[in-house]
Amino acid sequence: MKYLALITALLSLLIGCSDRQASQVAAPVVAAADINAGKAIAEAQCKGCHGLDGRAANDEIPHLAKQTEKYLYASLLAYKEGKRTHAALRDMAAHMSDADMRNVVAYYAGLPALPAAPGEKVPEVAVSDYEKGKVAAAACVTCHQEAGNSKTPGMPSLAGQHPVYLIAAMQAYKGGSRNMPEMKAALHKLNQTELENIALYYALQTPKQAPVPTVGDAVAGEPLTANCGGCHGLKGVSTDPAVPSLAGQDAQYLKSAAKLYKDGARRLEVMHKAVAAASEKELEDIAAFYAMQQPAAPKVEKTVSVQQAVEICDHCHGPGNDNPAIIIPKLDGQNKGYLIKALREYRDDQRRSSMMHKMSMFYNDPMIEQIATVYAGRPKR
Ligand code: HEC
Ligand code: HEC
Ligand code: HEC
Ligand code: HEC
Repeated sequence: MKYLALITALLSLLIGCSDRQASQVAAPVVAAADINAGKAIAEAQCKGCHGLDGRAANDEIPHLAKQTEKYLYASLLAYKEGKRTHAALRDMAAHMSDADMRNVVAYYAGLPALPAAPGEKVPEVAVSDYEKGKVAAAACVTCHQEAGNSKTPGMPSLAGQHPVYLIAAMQAYKGGSRNMPEMKAALHKLNQTELENIALYYALQTPKQAPVPTVGDAVAGEPLTANCGGCHGLKGVSTDPAVPSLAGQDAQYLKSAAKLYKDGARRLEVMHKAVAAASEKELEDIAAFYAMQQPAAPKVEKTVSVQQAVEICDHCHGPGNDNPAIIIPKLDGQNKGYLIKALREYRDDQRRSSMMHKMSMFYNDPMIEQIATVYAGRPKR
């Protein structure tokens, strides 16, 4: 895996600011839970899948023993409210009173830790997929040109863009939230790993300034960009992995992309607000200004070891994280198969957590398996 610097940057944005979804379910614990009543519910309804000792019956199911009470309660509530989807749990949770839910989670949270799964050896370093990305990017050359530096007005340059942004943009075309049939066609057969490889390849190409725009007034454009730099960086060189660089980008593309946010065809509230009041002429001037700035590539490592990745996860999931604003599940000693399933779902945006989606979107399947192996092999805390 790669992108260590970018993930670390993202992390600093995420930690501290509480996840909205998580904080919404952070209901205060009210009356003291009745563990015996909870055990009776577990016996009647949960035992078949979660055991009375909190051990999962198969690989698709999480162990519940000694998981934090707050997290168990928050997840049951998420099933009940339909924020997390699983037919059986939704049904069960729908029929439970709040007291039932609190009692049963208190029972599971209070169980002793399960013995750790037998340790498996984890490889030191994941391979770099840069070369594979280069091969896959051959399919894009007809439009995005060699090395992703646009020479055609209207076509975006990809070279030197953050891989995090590139992955998100590609997913948006693939999923349809950015509507562009040609891009969808170019990407529809590519899986997550291939998108990631391509993003790495383009991120590591040296960005070159697009041809000087023939329309727009860069001098008039500059003052209009006063509020853009906070996100897009000084003179359009972004230091935020999730925000694209604008410096040296093709002017016609810049203008048309800005217009898509203005018209709501690309949906992003902050971008819509930023350009909503700008006239055609002003967008053209802004585009001319950014097109003429000197682009710079982000710092991106080609490889990250599994250990480095786990260190990042441990900022939240490791011992000693007691930020009361976010409800964080413990992963140590969790069922490996379940961890893999959950991580893939977050990555592919099938399980609601904007924070975990951002944290997992860089990881290909082999990396996810390795991370899951590390956590499953740790003794439960
Ligand atoms: C038919 C099997 C089945 C039964 C019965 C069942 N569960 Fe589950 N449970 C699952 C599966 C599968 C998941 C993971 C679903 C997912 O991916 O969201 C899960 C997830 C959970 C989670 C979320 C844990 C986490 O780590 O995210 C909680 C909490 C939970 N179950 C509690 C219960 C309780 C309490 C009962 C009894 C009232 C119960 N379950 C009965 C299969 C079951
Ligand atoms: C038929 C021409 C065509 C092909 C082939 C094509 N693209 Fe694109 N691509 C475009 C156009 C046009 C846009 C701008 C779309 C828009 O306005 O949203 C674009 C946009 C993008 C963007 C978003 C750039 C940004 O700054 O937001 C990415 C990333 C991208 N393409 C990657 C790829 C990759 C990877 C491939 C090859 C697998 C590919 N494209 C193949 C025409 C193409
Ligand atoms: C609050 C942060 C924020 C501000 C302020 C902001 N932007 Fe953006 N902008 C973004 C993000 C995030 C994206 C990527 C959105 C996406 O994934 O579609 C973006 C995308 C863009 C794009 C598309 C680039 C591409 O490669 O497709 C253009 C053009 C753009 N912004 C121009 C501007 C201009 C001009 C301003 C000031 C008038 C501005 N932005 C202000 C956050 C911001
Ligand atoms: C910034 C804090 C943060 C970081 C960093 C983070 N997570 Fe999470 N994680 C969360 C939160 C909050 C949840 C609960 C989200 C929800 O309710 O779905 C969660 C949920 C999970 C779950 C679901 C657990 C369950 O029992 O259902 C898994 C698996 C997971 N994270 C793995 C990881 C891995 C692997 C990494 C590193 C690549 C990571 N997380 C990094 C905050 C974080």
